[in-house]
Amino acid sequence: MSISDIDGEIASHQLYADPLRMHAVFDRLRREDPLHWTQAPGHPPFWAVSKHADVVEVGRHPDVFVAAPKTFLLDDEDLRVRIAETAATGGKLVRTMIHMDDPDHRKYRGLTQSFFMPANIKRLETIIQDRARALVGRMLERADGCEFCNEIAVWFPLQIIMTLLAVPEKDHAYLLKLTQQFLAPKDATLKRDGPEAQGKGAVAREYFTYFGKMLAERRAAPLADDLGSLIAHAQVDGKPLETMEAVSYYVILATAGHDTTSSSMGSGLYNLLRQPGELERLRARPELMASAVEEMFRHGSPVKHFVRTATRDYELRGKTIRAGDEVALMYHCANFDEEVFDDPRAFRVDRAPNRQIAFGFGVHACLGQNLARSSMRAFFTELLARTAHIELMGEPAFIASNQVGGLKALQVRTTPLAASATDAQPAGAAA
Ligand code: HEM
Repeated sequence: MSISDIDGEIASHQLYADPLRMHAVFDRLRREDPLHWTQAPGHPPFWAVSKHADVVEVGRHPDVFVAAPKTFLLDDEDLRVRIAETAATGGKLVRTMIHMDDPDHRKYRGLTQSFFMPANIKRLETIIQDRARALVGRMLERADGCEFCNEIAVWFPLQIIMTLLAVPEKDHAYLLKLTQQFLAPKDATLKRDGPEAQGKGAVAREYFTYFGKMLAERRAAPLADDLGSLIAHAQVDGKPLETMEAVSYYVILATAGHDTTSSSMGSGLYNLLRQPGELERLRARPELMASAVEEMFRHGSPVKHFVRTATRDYELRGKTIRAGDEVALMYHCANFDEEVFDDPRAFRVDRAPNRQIAFGFGVHACLGQNLARSSMRAFFTELLARTAHIELMGEPAFIASNQVGGLKALQVRTTPLAASATDAQPAGAAA
Protein backbone atom coordinates (compact mmCIF):
# COMPACT_ATOMS: atom_id res chain seq x y z
CA MET A 1 0.00 0.00 0.00
CA SER A 2 1.35 3.44 -0.85
CA ILE A 3 0.98 6.50 1.31
CA SER A 4 3.22 8.58 -0.92
CA ASP A 5 0.64 11.42 -0.92
CA ILE A 6 1.98 12.45 2.52
CA ASP A 7 5.70 12.15 1.68
CA GLY A 8 6.06 15.93 1.36
CA GLU A 9 4.53 16.44 4.79
CA ILE A 10 6.67 13.77 6.47
CA ALA A 11 9.78 15.64 5.31
CA SER A 12 8.50 19.15 5.99
CA HIS A 13 9.14 21.61 8.81
CA GLN A 14 5.66 23.18 8.54
CA LEU A 15 3.92 19.96 9.64
CA TYR A 16 5.18 20.56 13.19
CA ALA A 17 3.46 23.94 13.44
CA ASP A 18 0.08 22.19 13.19
CA PRO A 19 -0.17 19.46 15.86
CA LEU A 20 -3.54 18.09 14.71
CA ARG A 21 -2.28 17.59 11.18
CA MET A 22 1.02 16.25 12.52
CA HIS A 23 -0.77 13.54 14.50
CA ALA A 24 -2.95 12.65 11.51
CA VAL A 25 0.21 12.13 9.43
CA PHE A 26 1.98 10.22 12.22
CA ASP A 27 -1.05 7.94 12.75
CA ARG A 28 -1.24 7.06 9.05
CA LEU A 29 2.47 6.45 8.87
CA ARG A 30 2.55 4.05 11.82
CA ARG A 31 -0.62 2.29 10.70
CA GLU A 32 -0.20 2.05 6.92
CA ASP A 33 3.54 1.86 6.29
CA PRO A 34 5.54 2.04 9.53
CA LEU A 35 8.91 1.79 7.78
CA HIS A 36 8.26 4.06 4.85
CA TRP A 37 10.57 4.91 1.94
CA THR A 38 9.79 8.62 1.72
CA GLN A 39 10.29 10.41 -1.59
CA ALA A 40 9.31 14.02 -1.07
CA PRO A 41 9.66 16.56 -3.89
CA GLY A 42 12.91 18.53 -3.63
CA HIS A 43 14.22 16.12 -1.02
CA PRO A 44 16.61 13.14 -1.08
CA PRO A 45 14.72 9.92 -0.24
CA PHE A 46 14.88 8.43 3.28
CA TRP A 47 13.36 5.71 5.42
CA ALA A 48 10.89 7.12 7.96
CA VAL A 49 11.15 4.90 11.06
CA SER A 50 7.92 5.58 12.90
CA LYS A 51 7.48 2.70 15.38
CA HIS A 52 8.95 2.65 18.88
CA ALA A 53 10.34 -0.92 18.46
CA ASP A 54 12.12 0.00 15.21
CA VAL A 55 13.68 3.19 16.60
CA VAL A 56 15.02 1.09 19.48
CA GLU A 57 16.31 -1.60 17.11
CA VAL A 58 18.17 0.95 14.98
CA GLY A 59 19.57 2.53 18.17
CA ARG A 60 20.89 -0.89 19.25
CA HIS A 61 23.03 -1.18 16.09
CA PRO A 62 25.29 1.90 16.00
CA ASP A 63 27.80 -0.04 13.87
CA VAL A 64 25.19 -0.51 11.11
CA PHE A 65 23.39 2.85 11.47
CA VAL A 66 26.02 5.55 11.82
CA ALA A 67 25.72 9.23 12.75
CA ALA A 68 28.18 10.55 10.14
CA PRO A 69 27.77 12.23 7.72
CA LYS A 70 24.27 13.57 8.38
CA THR A 71 22.38 14.12 11.64
CA PHE A 72 19.19 15.84 10.40
CA LEU A 73 17.17 15.63 7.17
CA LEU A 74 18.31 18.15 4.58
CA ASP A 75 16.32 19.09 1.48
CA ASP A 76 17.98 19.81 -1.89
CA GLU A 77 18.34 23.50 -1.05
CA ASP A 78 19.84 22.74 2.40
CA LEU A 79 22.30 20.39 0.71
CA ARG A 80 23.31 23.03 -1.82
CA VAL A 81 23.99 25.48 1.03
CA ARG A 82 25.80 22.79 3.06
CA ILE A 83 28.11 21.94 0.14
CA ALA A 84 28.92 25.63 -0.37
CA GLU A 85 29.57 26.12 3.37
CA THR A 86 31.72 23.00 3.56
CA ALA A 87 33.79 24.23 0.61
CA ALA A 88 34.15 27.70 2.19
CA THR A 89 35.31 26.34 5.57
CA GLY A 90 37.44 23.46 4.25
CA GLY A 91 34.98 21.03 5.88
CA LYS A 92 35.47 22.54 9.33
CA LEU A 93 31.94 23.61 10.23
CA VAL A 94 30.99 22.03 13.55
CA ARG A 95 31.96 18.53 14.71
CA THR A 96 30.46 17.33 17.97
CA MET A 97 29.87 13.95 19.58
CA ILE A 98 26.45 13.92 17.93
CA HIS A 99 28.18 13.80 14.52
CA MET A 100 30.70 11.13 15.57
CA ASP A 101 30.81 7.35 15.60
CA ASP A 102 33.07 5.06 17.59
CA PRO A 103 35.88 5.15 18.49
CA ASP A 104 35.79 9.00 18.54
CA HIS A 105 32.25 9.19 19.88
CA ARG A 106 33.06 7.17 22.99
CA LYS A 107 36.20 9.23 23.70
CA TYR A 108 34.51 12.63 23.34
CA ARG A 109 31.35 11.68 25.21
CA GLY A 110 33.50 10.20 27.98
CA LEU A 111 35.08 13.60 28.67
CA THR A 112 31.95 15.01 30.30
CA GLN A 113 29.91 11.87 31.03
CA SER A 114 30.58 11.93 34.78
CA PHE A 115 29.68 15.64 34.96
CA PHE A 116 26.15 14.71 33.82
CA MET A 117 25.71 11.67 36.09
CA PRO A 118 22.97 11.93 38.77
CA ALA A 119 25.45 12.30 41.65
CA ASN A 120 26.97 15.41 40.11
CA ILE A 121 23.60 16.81 39.01
CA LYS A 122 22.54 16.62 42.66
CA ARG A 123 25.43 18.97 43.44
CA LEU A 124 23.90 21.48 41.00
CA GLU A 125 20.49 21.49 42.68
CA THR A 126 21.03 24.81 44.42
CA ILE A 127 21.79 26.54 41.10
CA ILE A 128 18.72 24.92 39.51
CA GLN A 129 16.40 25.79 42.40
CA ASP A 130 17.62 29.39 42.62
CA ARG A 131 16.88 29.89 38.93
CA ALA A 132 13.47 28.22 39.23
CA ARG A 133 12.56 30.39 42.22
CA ALA A 134 13.52 33.61 40.43
CA LEU A 135 11.60 32.78 37.25
CA VAL A 136 8.44 31.68 39.05
CA GLY A 137 8.73 34.94 40.99
CA ARG A 138 8.87 36.81 37.67
CA MET A 139 5.67 35.03 36.54
CA LEU A 140 3.89 35.95 39.74
CA GLU A 141 4.84 39.62 39.42
CA ARG A 142 2.97 39.77 36.12
CA ALA A 143 -0.59 40.15 37.36
CA ASP A 144 -1.86 40.60 33.77
CA GLY A 145 -0.21 37.40 32.62
CA CYS A 146 2.92 36.59 30.63
CA GLU A 147 4.01 34.86 27.46
CA PHE A 148 5.46 31.79 29.11
CA CYS A 149 7.71 30.48 26.30
CA ASN A 150 9.75 33.63 25.65
CA GLU A 151 9.55 35.42 28.97
CA ILE A 152 10.13 32.43 31.23
CA ALA A 153 10.85 29.02 29.66
CA VAL A 154 13.70 29.96 27.31
CA TRP A 155 15.63 31.55 30.18
CA PHE A 156 15.55 28.67 32.62
CA PRO A 157 17.74 26.03 30.88
CA LEU A 158 19.78 28.80 29.27
CA GLN A 159 20.73 30.27 32.64
CA ILE A 160 21.53 26.82 34.06
CA ILE A 161 23.74 25.72 31.16
CA MET A 162 25.45 29.09 30.90
CA THR A 163 26.13 28.96 34.64
CA LEU A 164 27.67 25.50 34.19
CA LEU A 165 29.84 26.84 31.36
CA ALA A 166 30.53 30.02 33.42
CA VAL A 167 29.32 32.33 30.63
CA PRO A 168 28.66 35.84 32.04
CA GLU A 169 25.01 36.83 32.48
CA LYS A 170 25.33 39.83 30.12
CA ASP A 171 25.89 37.43 27.17
CA HIS A 172 22.94 35.09 27.84
CA ALA A 173 20.47 36.93 25.57
CA TYR A 174 22.96 36.93 22.67
CA LEU A 175 23.60 33.19 22.98
CA LEU A 176 19.87 32.51 23.22
CA LYS A 177 19.29 34.24 19.89
CA LEU A 178 22.10 32.31 18.20
CA THR A 179 20.72 29.02 19.49
CA GLN A 180 17.23 29.71 18.25
CA GLN A 181 18.57 30.59 14.81
CA PHE A 182 20.68 27.42 14.83
CA LEU A 183 17.82 25.09 15.73
CA ALA A 184 14.87 26.56 13.81
CA PRO A 185 16.40 27.74 10.53
CA LYS A 186 13.03 27.48 8.72
CA ASP A 187 10.72 29.09 11.26
CA ALA A 188 9.51 32.47 9.99
CA THR A 189 9.91 34.31 13.30
CA LEU A 190 12.98 32.57 14.74
CA LYS A 191 15.22 32.16 11.67
CA ARG A 192 18.06 34.48 10.85
CA ASP A 193 17.34 37.46 8.59
CA GLY A 194 19.48 39.03 5.91
CA PRO A 195 21.86 37.70 3.27
CA GLU A 196 23.25 34.96 5.52
CA ALA A 197 19.84 33.57 6.44
CA GLN A 198 20.38 30.24 4.66
CA GLY A 199 22.12 27.33 6.34
CA LYS A 200 23.87 27.17 9.68
CA GLY A 201 27.25 28.47 8.55
CA ALA A 202 26.83 32.11 9.59
CA VAL A 203 25.47 31.17 13.02
CA ALA A 204 28.25 28.59 13.45
CA ARG A 205 30.85 31.27 12.65
CA GLU A 206 29.42 33.55 15.36
CA TYR A 207 29.49 30.71 17.86
CA PHE A 208 33.11 30.05 16.91
CA THR A 209 34.11 33.65 17.47
CA TYR A 210 32.41 33.80 20.87
CA PHE A 211 33.41 30.37 22.19
CA GLY A 212 36.87 30.55 20.59
CA LYS A 213 37.62 33.54 22.81
CA MET A 214 36.18 31.77 25.83
CA LEU A 215 38.33 28.69 25.12
CA ALA A 216 41.49 30.80 25.01
CA GLU A 217 40.53 32.45 28.32
CA ARG A 218 39.84 29.12 30.05
CA ARG A 219 43.11 27.68 28.73
CA ALA A 220 45.02 30.65 30.06
CA ALA A 221 43.21 30.73 33.40
CA PRO A 222 40.94 27.80 34.28
CA LEU A 223 38.09 28.43 36.69
CA ALA A 224 37.17 25.97 39.38
CA ASP A 225 34.56 23.33 38.58
CA ASP A 226 33.02 24.74 35.37
CA LEU A 227 32.34 22.70 32.24
CA GLY A 228 34.11 25.28 30.07
CA SER A 229 37.45 24.73 31.88
CA LEU A 230 36.92 20.95 31.96
CA ILE A 231 36.66 20.88 28.15
CA ALA A 232 39.48 23.40 27.65
CA HIS A 233 41.88 21.12 29.57
CA ALA A 234 40.50 17.72 28.48
CA GLN A 235 42.66 15.34 26.48
CA VAL A 236 41.85 12.76 23.81
CA ASP A 237 44.55 10.18 23.00
CA GLY A 238 46.90 12.11 25.26
CA LYS A 239 46.49 15.43 23.43
CA PRO A 240 44.38 18.54 24.16
CA LEU A 241 41.35 19.00 21.89
CA GLU A 242 41.89 20.92 18.65
CA THR A 243 40.24 24.37 18.78
CA MET A 244 37.48 23.24 16.38
CA GLU A 245 36.62 20.22 18.52
CA ALA A 246 36.73 22.12 21.82
CA VAL A 247 34.57 24.97 20.49
CA SER A 248 32.16 22.44 18.95
CA TYR A 249 31.86 20.87 22.39
CA TYR A 250 30.76 24.24 23.82
CA VAL A 251 28.31 24.60 20.92
CA ILE A 252 26.68 21.21 21.49
CA LEU A 253 26.26 21.85 25.21
CA ALA A 254 24.89 25.34 24.60
CA THR A 255 22.44 24.21 21.91
CA ALA A 256 21.42 20.68 22.92
CA GLY A 257 20.25 21.63 26.37
CA HIS A 258 18.10 24.68 26.15
CA ASP A 259 15.53 24.68 23.37
CA THR A 260 14.80 21.06 24.24
CA THR A 261 14.19 21.76 27.93
CA SER A 262 12.34 25.04 27.40
CA SER A 263 10.14 23.38 24.81
CA SER A 264 9.29 20.61 27.30
CA MET A 265 8.39 23.28 29.88
CA GLY A 266 6.03 24.99 27.42
CA SER A 267 4.27 21.84 26.25
CA GLY A 268 4.25 20.47 29.80
CA LEU A 269 2.47 23.54 31.14
CA TYR A 270 0.11 23.65 28.17
CA ASN A 271 -0.87 20.01 28.73
CA LEU A 272 -1.53 20.64 32.42
CA LEU A 273 -3.71 23.64 31.57
CA ARG A 274 -5.71 22.08 28.77
CA GLN A 275 -6.42 19.10 31.03
CA PRO A 276 -7.05 20.82 34.38
CA GLY A 277 -7.93 17.49 35.99
CA GLU A 278 -4.29 16.43 35.54
CA LEU A 279 -3.04 19.68 37.05
CA GLU A 280 -5.25 19.23 40.10
CA ARG A 281 -4.15 15.60 40.44
CA LEU A 282 -0.51 16.72 40.45
CA ARG A 283 -1.21 19.46 42.98
CA ALA A 284 -2.94 16.94 45.23
CA ARG A 285 -0.19 14.32 44.82
CA PRO A 286 3.21 16.03 44.43
CA GLU A 287 4.86 12.60 44.60
CA LEU A 288 3.68 12.20 40.98
CA MET A 289 6.08 14.95 39.84
CA ALA A 290 8.69 12.51 38.46
CA SER A 291 6.15 10.60 36.35
CA ALA A 292 4.43 13.85 35.28
CA VAL A 293 7.77 15.15 33.96
CA GLU A 294 8.38 11.89 31.99
CA GLU A 295 4.95 12.38 30.44
CA MET A 296 5.83 15.99 29.58
CA PHE A 297 8.95 14.70 27.75
CA ARG A 298 6.92 12.05 25.91
CA HIS A 299 4.00 14.23 24.94
CA GLY A 300 6.12 17.24 23.94
CA SER A 301 8.98 15.24 22.32
CA PRO A 302 10.96 18.38 21.43
CA VAL A 303 13.47 16.46 19.28
CA LYS A 304 11.44 15.44 16.25
CA HIS A 305 13.94 13.19 14.51
CA PHE A 306 17.61 12.35 14.03
CA VAL A 307 19.15 10.76 10.94
CA ARG A 308 21.46 7.75 10.63
CA THR A 309 23.06 6.28 7.51
CA ALA A 310 23.17 2.51 6.90
CA THR A 311 26.67 1.06 6.43
CA ARG A 312 25.34 -2.26 5.11
CA ASP A 313 22.09 -3.88 4.02
CA TYR A 314 19.77 -4.53 6.97
CA GLU A 315 16.39 -6.29 7.22
CA LEU A 316 13.78 -4.41 9.23
CA ARG A 317 10.02 -4.96 9.31
CA GLY A 318 10.25 -7.23 6.25
CA LYS A 319 12.04 -4.63 4.14
CA THR A 320 15.67 -4.23 3.12
CA ILE A 321 17.40 -1.00 4.08
CA ARG A 322 20.30 -0.74 1.63
CA ALA A 323 23.87 0.32 2.45
CA GLY A 324 24.03 4.12 2.05
CA ASP A 325 20.31 4.69 2.70
CA GLU A 326 19.27 7.49 5.05
CA VAL A 327 17.13 6.52 8.03
CA ALA A 328 15.11 9.10 10.00
CA LEU A 329 14.42 8.07 13.61
CA MET A 330 11.08 9.76 14.26
CA TYR A 331 11.24 10.13 18.03
CA HIS A 332 8.08 12.24 18.35
CA CYS A 333 6.03 9.87 16.21
CA ALA A 334 7.37 6.78 18.06
CA ASN A 335 6.38 8.34 21.38
CA PHE A 336 2.73 8.09 20.27
CA ASP A 337 2.94 4.45 19.20
CA GLU A 338 -0.30 2.82 20.37
CA GLU A 339 1.45 -0.56 20.65
CA VAL A 340 3.55 0.86 23.50
CA PHE A 341 1.44 3.65 25.02
CA ASP A 342 -2.19 3.19 26.03
CA ASP A 343 -4.32 6.04 24.60
CA PRO A 344 -1.15 7.90 23.50
CA ARG A 345 -2.77 11.27 22.82
CA ALA A 346 -3.95 11.49 26.44
CA PHE A 347 -1.62 13.34 28.82
CA ARG A 348 -1.48 11.46 32.13
CA VAL A 349 0.65 12.65 35.02
CA ASP A 350 0.72 9.11 36.44
CA ARG A 351 1.42 7.19 33.23
CA ALA A 352 3.27 4.02 34.23
CA PRO A 353 5.11 2.40 32.72
CA ASN A 354 6.31 5.19 30.45
CA ARG A 355 8.92 3.94 28.00
CA GLN A 356 9.25 7.32 26.33
CA ILE A 357 12.22 7.80 23.97
CA ALA A 358 12.27 11.60 23.81
CA PHE A 359 15.98 11.39 24.76
CA GLY A 360 16.76 8.95 21.96
CA PHE A 361 18.05 5.43 22.48
CA GLY A 362 21.46 3.74 22.39
CA VAL A 363 24.97 5.19 22.35
CA HIS A 364 23.78 8.69 21.40
CA ALA A 365 20.99 8.81 24.02
CA CYS A 366 20.89 12.27 25.55
CA LEU A 367 23.86 13.05 27.73
CA GLY A 368 21.95 15.80 29.57
CA GLN A 369 18.79 13.86 30.43
CA ASN A 370 19.44 13.85 34.20
CA LEU A 371 19.95 17.59 34.12
CA ALA A 372 16.75 18.03 32.08
CA ARG A 373 14.78 15.86 34.53
CA SER A 374 16.11 17.65 37.57
CA SER A 375 15.45 21.09 36.03
CA MET A 376 11.88 20.26 35.02
CA ARG A 377 11.02 18.75 38.40
CA ALA A 378 12.43 21.77 40.22
CA PHE A 379 10.56 24.27 38.04
CA PHE A 380 7.13 22.62 38.20
CA THR A 381 7.47 21.90 41.91
CA GLU A 382 8.21 25.58 42.52
CA LEU A 383 5.40 26.71 40.21
CA LEU A 384 2.74 24.53 41.83
CA ALA A 385 3.93 25.35 45.34
CA ARG A 386 3.55 29.11 44.83
CA THR A 387 0.39 29.38 42.71
CA ALA A 388 -3.23 29.00 43.67
CA HIS A 389 -4.34 29.10 40.07
CA ILE A 390 -2.84 29.11 36.56
CA GLU A 391 -4.97 30.16 33.64
CA LEU A 392 -4.52 29.64 29.90
CA MET A 393 -5.17 32.83 27.95
CA GLY A 394 -5.67 31.89 24.32
CA GLU A 395 -4.34 29.24 21.98
CA PRO A 396 -0.60 28.52 21.77
CA ALA A 397 1.58 28.73 18.64
CA PHE A 398 3.99 26.00 17.55
CA ILE A 399 7.46 26.17 15.95
CA ALA A 400 7.79 25.05 12.33
CA SER A 401 10.83 22.79 12.72
CA ASN A 402 11.32 19.08 12.03
CA GLN A 403 14.53 19.18 14.13
CA VAL A 404 13.87 20.71 17.56
CA GLY A 405 10.46 22.28 18.04
CA GLY A 406 7.45 22.62 20.28
CA LEU A 407 5.59 25.64 21.57
CA LYS A 408 6.58 29.10 20.42
CA ALA A 409 4.05 31.14 22.42
CA LEU A 410 1.80 30.38 25.40
CA GLN A 411 -0.02 33.17 27.16
CA VAL A 412 -0.81 32.35 30.82
CA ARG A 413 -1.85 34.15 34.02
CA THR A 414 -0.91 32.99 37.51
CA THR A 415 -2.59 33.76 40.82
CA PRO A 416 -0.22 33.53 43.78
CA LEU A 417 -1.07 31.60 46.88
CA ALA A 418 -2.25 33.96 49.62
CA ALA A 419 0.79 35.41 51.42
CA SER A 420 -0.01 33.53 54.62
CA ALA A 421 -0.22 30.20 52.76
CA THR A 422 3.07 30.94 50.95
CA ASP A 423 4.73 31.63 54.30
CA ALA A 424 3.37 28.40 55.69
CA GLN A 425 4.86 26.40 52.80
CA PRO A 426 8.07 27.95 51.48
CA ALA A 427 8.83 27.42 47.81
CA GLY A 428 10.83 24.27 47.20
CA ALA A 429 9.46 22.59 50.32
CA ALA A 430 7.68 20.02 48.18
CA ALA A 431 10.81 19.24 46.09
C1 HEM B 1 14.02 17.88 27.42
C2 HEM B 1 15.30 18.02 27.24
C3 HEM B 1 16.10 17.25 26.23
C4 HEM B 1 15.71 16.42 25.22
C5 HEM B 1 14.29 16.01 24.83
C6 HEM B 1 16.91 15.95 24.57
C7 HEM B 1 16.92 15.05 23.51
C8 HEM B 1 18.06 14.48 22.97
C9 HEM B 1 18.08 13.45 21.96
C10 HEM B 1 16.84 12.85 21.30
C11 HEM B 1 19.36 13.13 21.72
C12 HEM B 1 19.84 12.01 20.81
C13 HEM B 1 20.30 12.45 19.46
C14 HEM B 1 20.55 11.28 18.53
O1 HEM B 1 19.72 10.38 18.42
O2 HEM B 1 21.60 11.29 17.87
C15 HEM B 1 20.17 13.98 22.56
C16 HEM B 1 21.55 13.97 22.58
C17 HEM B 1 22.29 14.84 23.34
N1 HEM B 1 21.83 15.73 24.29
FE1 HEM B 1 19.93 16.06 24.80
N2 HEM B 1 17.99 16.51 25.18
C18 HEM B 1 17.54 17.31 26.21
C19 HEM B 1 18.31 18.04 27.09
C20 HEM B 1 19.68 18.09 27.09
C21 HEM B 1 20.49 18.81 28.04
C22 HEM B 1 19.96 19.63 29.22
C23 HEM B 1 21.78 18.65 27.64
C24 HEM B 1 23.04 19.17 28.27
C25 HEM B 1 23.33 20.33 28.60
C26 HEM B 1 21.78 17.77 26.48
C27 HEM B 1 22.91 17.35 25.81
C28 HEM B 1 22.91 16.38 24.82
C29 HEM B 1 24.12 15.90 24.19
C30 HEM B 1 25.54 16.35 24.50
C31 HEM B 1 23.74 14.92 23.26
C32 HEM B 1 24.63 14.12 22.32
C33 HEM B 1 24.86 12.75 22.88
C34 HEM B 1 25.66 11.88 21.97
O3 HEM B 1 25.69 12.07 20.75
O4 HEM B 1 26.29 10.95 22.50
N3 HEM B 1 20.49 17.46 26.18
N4 HEM B 1 19.35 14.78 23.33
